Amino acid sequence: MKNSKKICLVVVCCVLFFFKNNIQAQQFSEIQINAKIDSVLSLLTLEEKVAMCHAQSKFSTPGVGRLGIPEVWMSDGPHGVRGEINWDDWGYAGWTNDYITAFPALTCLAATFNPSIAKAYGISVGEEAKYREKDVLLGPGVNIYRTPLNGRNFEYMGEDPFLASTMVVPYIKGVQQNGVAACVKHYALNNQELWRDHISVEVSERALYEIYLPAFKAAVQQGHVWSIMGAYNQFRGQHTTHNEMLMNKILKEDWAFDGVVISDWGSTHNTKEAALYGLDMEMGTGTDGLTTSTQNAYDFYYLANPFLKMLKEGTIEEAVVDDKVRRILRLMYRTNMSNNSSFGRINNQEHLDVARKIAGEGIVLLKNKNSFFPINPNKEITIAIIGENATKSLTVGGGSSELKAKNEISPLEGLKNRYKNATIIHAKGYASGPSQYDRVVEPTDDLENLKKEAIEVASKADVVLFFGGLNKNHLQDCEGGDRQSFGLPFGQDELIDEILKVNANTGVILVSGNAVEMPWVDNVSAVMQTWYLGSEAGNAMADVISGDVNPSGKLPFSFPKKLTDNAAHSFGEMSYPGDSITQYYKEGILVGYRWHETKKIKPLFAFGEGLSYTNFEISNIGTAKKTYSKDEEIVVSATVSNTGNFDGLEVVQIYVGKSKSKVERALKELKGFKKIMVKKGESETVEISINVNDLAFYDETISDWNLEKGGYVIYVGNASNNISKEIKISIQ
Ligand code: BGC
Repeated sequence: MKNSKKICLVVVCCVLFFFKNNIQAQQFSEIQINAKIDSVLSLLTLEEKVAMCHAQSKFSTPGVGRLGIPEVWMSDGPHGVRGEINWDDWGYAGWTNDYITAFPALTCLAATFNPSIAKAYGISVGEEAKYREKDVLLGPGVNIYRTPLNGRNFEYMGEDPFLASTMVVPYIKGVQQNGVAACVKHYALNNQELWRDHISVEVSERALYEIYLPAFKAAVQQGHVWSIMGAYNQFRGQHTTHNEMLMNKILKEDWAFDGVVISDWGSTHNTKEAALYGLDMEMGTGTDGLTTSTQNAYDFYYLANPFLKMLKEGTIEEAVVDDKVRRILRLMYRTNMSNNSSFGRINNQEHLDVARKIAGEGIVLLKNKNSFFPINPNKEITIAIIGENATKSLTVGGGSSELKAKNEISPLEGLKNRYKNATIIHAKGYASGPSQYDRVVEPTDDLENLKKEAIEVASKADVVLFFGGLNKNHLQDCEGGDRQSFGLPFGQDELIDEILKVNANTGVILVSGNAVEMPWVDNVSAVMQTWYLGSEAGNAMADVISGDVNPSGKLPFSFPKKLTDNAAHSFGEMSYPGDSITQYYKEGILVGYRWHETKKIKPLFAFGEGLSYTNFEISNIGTAKKTYSKDEEIVVSATVSNTGNFDGLEVVQIYVGKSKSKVERALKELKGFKKIMVKKGESETVEISINVNDLAFYDETISDWNLEKGGYVIYVGNASNNISKEIKISIQ
């Protein structure tokens, strides 16, 4: 045997030995942990056990001092570690050591279509949580984007279950490698904010399993998430936080979740259900049953004195509380009682660099007439920057995901930094008015004056960049309410029209976590979707605008032309928002692009769509064979050629459809994707594997997945509506 072969063999043996031992070590430590849990459990009094199952302050649960068991401390999530909140009210504690890095919103992360960047996100935000001595980070969120009006879409990962599943797993692993638990939320069906505390969702079992649950399942089974948050709403008339089917049957039995179910803050409503239907830790309950309470009302929680009473009376067996405490102790052995001695890091340059990279990769270029972007940073031109979002802080507001960022570079600052040779002129243009989140109350703007000023500024410039979109105020991209219209707020549409009259060389940069209507889209030169980008927002935008970074983001949800083109809205009020008691997800599995593609309703911009400064061609598309059976991998290969003038990243996307089926099918569904770098003038080959089993549909007649035999179509392209080749295969 040649020496090189011998070396290879030794390396392979070592790797196998390492993996085998590592798995054995993990199993061993699980056994050890379980033994420790049993011994601790035997030392606890009933009162101590019950105390561990509910809050002692807004964001902590008590430990057991006499046994050295620490408290559990939590913080929001998901875009950074939230500022410190008071012990017993929602005010900020006013600390000076809780400034953090604000990472881009999860919509932006999803738009990167890059799981390795999700890992970097998780590691960095986990390090910050560790530094802030948090044991649980309340995120990420993976509720599916069903309507563009949902005020919380910006905290989630888009409309596709495969994309959300692929992105959530590395985020969780990254967070948890720091000894900090991720808490995936909001389980489940919290797809709107309006009436979120009580609306009861009626959805087909098929849509539940195929659309709304997969990302949670991936979080549990692939991400091994250590905690999960119950949602506010009801499912089939029972609150999701203590829902027999969602918690007991699906999460704990079918998926074998071994972590802690934490309630949302004020989502618990009933002691017996909370005890028996899966809730382990109750947080945020008010004496009004929701969020308002008299001071330090923790003993009144459903899983506090009322629970203790039922345990003492024997109405509920002690085994019930033992199971909850076992899970809580397991979480603690993984976090604050683990051997992980890392200290964490905060606000360091590496975290800012990660935030900037994610932001740069997530920005989506939607329109770019005559190569409007990139704008050469060395030219001596006059650039007008117009719009409130060019200067407004967008890390504050939005509800619980609000952040206290150490830095927040605004777009105006970012562009001024990069465009040293240009003359930058600026006008606010419109104003959203005061909000509950404003730290400084500014004098009310004269809207007519703002508009006049903006038009004057626009008329003097060589190029206009309009920074608009939504913001984090109530009824915009914000928890606790939904948007009230699909159009841009604060008179922006009219303002854009007026600007175009004096300067046609205008590009629109939208900052939002939701799709918006764009009546002016044909008249502007360019549109860029930039999300909420956090600490490095302005720098990341300048990176892409200047061409330092070639855009490679792809839309994680569809932009319909009008609201009724969206599936949920096309079925009228009982589908969205419901009648305040119940709502019916009448579109079933046809959410987002599944609806647009199947019903042939063209969106304004499609799921998976996003331009680059270069051109890509996808060719040589094929599969090794055409017939497959159960458990096999379908390997799709393709060559991506960069035929333009910039190096760039492209996302090859694989969708699969089945025309003849015993049930209604979406024309196509995302089943695989890969992002690759291709240098200008070069080509790269990608291979993407799809497991045949993942083509099954959820069959309600057998309450299980059903892999249908027969013909399937594989669509390969770079957007849901831009397919380079269709390949027919069959499953035997
Ligand atoms: C939100 C959760 C959040 C919790 C704690 C709730 O209002 O729905 O996402 O983690 O508050 O702030």
